[in-house]
Amino acid sequence: MENFVYFGLARALHVVGVVLWIGGVAFVTTTLIPSLRKMADTDNRLTLFEQLEGKFAFQARIVTLVTGLSGFYMMEYMNAWERYQQLQFWWIHLMTLIWLIFTLVLFVLEPLVLHRRFRMLANENSDRAFTLLHRGHKVLLILSLITVFGTVAGVHGLFLI
Ligand code: HEM
Repeated sequence: MENFVYFGLARALHVVGVVLWIGGVAFVTTTLIPSLRKMADTDNRLTLFEQLEGKFAFQARIVTLVTGLSGFYMMEYMNAWERYQQLQFWWIHLMTLIWLIFTLVLFVLEPLVLHRRFRMLANENSDRAFTLLHRGHKVLLILSLITVFGTVAGVHGLFLI
């Protein structure tokens, strides 16, 4: 198969990955966590959160891998590595930064530190734990949406005029 077909496939997979991944983060941030924060039964709140977010975290790990691999493949295909040295491609930096943050959180920090810490804090003070959790998710969601906006606008030349 011609290389441009692989490039097209990588681009399509990349965007499907982004939709599933950032869409999931949006659901967790705007719907799941606010609903859990309204629950009075704090034991149930933690159990429910661990079950639901645990399932999402598994999916998020897979789509993070797909998005990263397809992204780096496109960089290689376009031989676009020097864009990392050009400020007008800030959206490439942002995509890579967001990917690095999620990779670090999902593959390293969550399993090694965050899961245990969050459980401890939630048992001590559930409201505070869920407020902090919500804040973290909001920051990541806003950054991710700026990234999607900036990337689509950037790819289609908005920052070159
Ligand atoms: C390792 C991380 C990543 C790399 C190396 C990467 C790289 C790329 C590349 C090279 C393109 C094609 C650019 C062009 O055609 O000029 C692209 C497209 C895109 N990326 Fe990423 N990306 C990464 C992560 C992300 C993340 C985390 C998001 C969203 C939060 C994202 C959203 C998008 C979108 C929406 C497009 C399609 C833009 C369009 O065709 O209109 N990427 N990415």
